[in-house]
Amino acid sequence: MELTKAAVEKADILRRDWNDDEDYYQGAEEWVNIFWELGGKHPFREMFDRLDSSVVVELACGRGRHSWQMRDWPNQKILVDLVPENIELCQKRFAGLKNFRFIVNNGVDLHQIDSGSVTAVFCYDAMVHFDHEIVYSYLREFRRILRPGGMALLHHSNYPGNPGGDYKANPSWRCFMPPGLFKDYAIKSGLEVVEQRCFGWGETDDVDCLSLVVKPDAPDAPQASDPPRRRRRWRVRLPWRRR
Ligand SMILES: C[S@@+](CC[C@H](N)C(=O)[O-])C[C@H]1O[C@@H](n2cnc3c(N)ncnc32)[C@H](O)[C@@H]1O
Repeated sequence: MELTKAAVEKADILRRDWNDDEDYYQGAEEWVNIFWELGGKHPFREMFDRLDSSVVVELACGRGRHSWQMRDWPNQKILVDLVPENIELCQKRFAGLKNFRFIVNNGVDLHQIDSGSVTAVFCYDAMVHFDHEIVYSYLREFRRILRPGGMALLHHSNYPGNPGGDYKANPSWRCFMPPGLFKDYAIKSGLEVVEQRCFGWGETDDVDCLSLVVKPDAPDAPQASDPPRRRRRWRVRLPWRRR
């Protein structure tokens, strides 16, 4: 994939921003359970359980608090982050455990992962900070690495303010990502949007969104270009503003 200069520059900024935010990494460990709780109030676990996690990529894994929840599962786990130190710490944390692979990436693509080789991707509490060009790049990569029928669960920004500005000036460091842009990029990447749920973070309502996208299962799966009758079974599960 051709990398744009702007996306590479934005990734360099993200690498610097997330290199050593010890306060975040330590504090976040304490509240990870709210996302993973079975039958909990947060939509993450319910949507995560719809993935086929046989071969799952966690993008922007940080220090590995989410994949740690799967440490005893027999599935294959591929942890990716652009900060080398985070991956080194994950390698120590998961030492001796089977079925883990670790990748330091460039913050824009997933070229180390073979096409059609994974069943699921997830990214939580990270993509909210990615410039939309980087999100678009990753969506095209998810389309490439997923097997047909594979899904990605992505927690991204839904913040419409400060176009072209520094994400760190925005509420909860959410990037400019006006409603509809993520879906537009997903469709242009050849993915189908199965469901989106927006929710608040901090003091700001609806600033975040969880999107479940699928790589269409050739040849019968619903496509963005399919006529309305065939797409309806996906549409009934699109409660854009459910909390
Ligand atoms: C707020 S932390 C969240 C870490 C982890 N997802 C969690 O919930 O604990 C953001 C993470 O995203 C990573 N990151 C930032 N930009 C990235 C990019 N463009 N590609 C891959 N990882 C990135 C950072 O290195 C950091 O680990």
